[in-house]
Amino acid sequence: MEYVMVDGRTLDRSAAKVDIEDRGYQFGDGVYEVIRVYNGKMFTGMEHLKRLKESAEKIQMKLPYSPEELLARMEELILKNEVDTGTVYMQFTRGISPRNHVFPGENVATTFVAYTRKVPRPVEPMEKGVCAILDEDIRWLRCDIKSLNLLGNLLSKQRAAEANCFEAILHRGETVTEGSHSNISIVKDGVIITHQADNHILNGITRQKMLEICRNESIPFEERAFSLDELSSADEVFSSGTTVEVMPVVEVAGKPVGNGRPGSVTRQLQALFKAEIERQCGQI
Ligand SMILES: Cc1ncc(COP(=O)(O)O)c(C=O)c1O
Repeated sequence: MEYVMVDGRTLDRSAAKVDIEDRGYQFGDGVYEVIRVYNGKMFTGMEHLKRLKESAEKIQMKLPYSPEELLARMEELILKNEVDTGTVYMQFTRGISPRNHVFPGENVATTFVAYTRKVPRPVEPMEKGVCAILDEDIRWLRCDIKSLNLLGNLLSKQRAAEANCFEAILHRGETVTEGSHSNISIVKDGVIITHQADNHILNGITRQKMLEICRNESIPFEERAFSLDELSSADEVFSSGTTVEVMPVVEVAGKPVGNGRPGSVTRQLQALFKAEIERQCGQI
């Protein structure tokens, strides 16, 4: 039996249904989050739920639960589904109402759905590194919102998958923004460089945690846009995200990065990130 949550009720997966006039289904009018679970505990859960609230506010949507209430609900679901290592997904849409571009108004309740997945840590690719393609970033200009509208991301990720690659590194003209489903950083002469948190990227919780680790460990970093030239001459490239943690990228657009193996700064960050997970969730 797999339990899911719909509007605060816990029910069997097979009993969960979506109304055809749900605005998430019709317009992608909603926001979502994915939280990592290690040893049955959520990692950086509160940070994700605060970002969910911010995403909702940015699209003028009011969530019916506080981050604290949501955290408790998600804990319940993880326990019920006996998730040890995995993820919990949740989304809120602007509710059910006859199709109309105009918002339906406050009397229409949001639709809330949550479910869990059992997902192992991607240990092997984290050891060996992965490849990435390059793709023009054709998405809208509010990539800071974790919105359900992911078509631009999907098209890029599909291109990457067709090239047997893990990620598509996106660029607006000469400027690298992020990945189709992760943040991208480069390392040059020992300095980590990653795009500043503005409307062109999702400010990843993993990215934020990683920068906090860098601050604490005096690892130099710069939050700024970098170019395709800087990407192709980088010593190291890595992707970061909730399910993939810190993932070395060893090949970009068919060319090896550095010596074609995960670099020392990336490896150091992976170890520090793992230590942070273990501090919060126990040994992994
Ligand atoms: C487009 C995009 N950027 C960045 C990230 C990384 O964010 P986080 O570290 O919060 O998972 C994701 C994760 O889903 C993403 O989809």
